[in-house]
Amino acid sequence: MAILKVVRHPNPILSQKALPVLRVNRKLRRLVHDMIETMYQEDGVGLAAPQVGVPKQIVVISPQGTRGEEQVLFNLQVIECSSKQEVDAEGCLSLPGLTAEIPRARKIAYTALDLNGFPVRETAEGFHARVIQHERDHLNGILILKYAASLR
Ligand code: NI
Repeated sequence: MAILKVVRHPNPILSQKALPVLRVNRKLRRLVHDMIETMYQEDGVGLAAPQVGVPKQIVVISPQGTRGEEQVLFNLQVIECSSKQEVDAEGCLSLPGLTAEIPRARKIAYTALDLNGFPVRETAEGFHARVIQHERDHLNGILILKYAASLR
């Protein structure tokens, strides 16, 4: 396993749309394991592949920060958002030192492929939903800066 270098703003890869994963193979699983190690090393609760220089729809999250409880999501899509939103402070490993108050849907439904390549459809709420929405944004080339700018 390896700790990967986290790409920082304004690297252009952070503004690009990530490409779908077509096949979950061994190489991809190794990348996922390295992303998980890197997320914990950097004290993050989520990491998207573009943040380690790979423009693919791969997300790892660990909302509780507990090792062994990571969630791996390929081709993540948020398919439903509650109309009720909550505003809370968010940071990003690609924007060290910055936090911004970001509105997010309180509850979401999402689809993805799991680590074995099987489709999943789940719901999440609260902080878990917030982390998923943050990482989904990375896959669309969106950083929290965008919200911070629109709030001013
Ligand atoms: Ni981020």
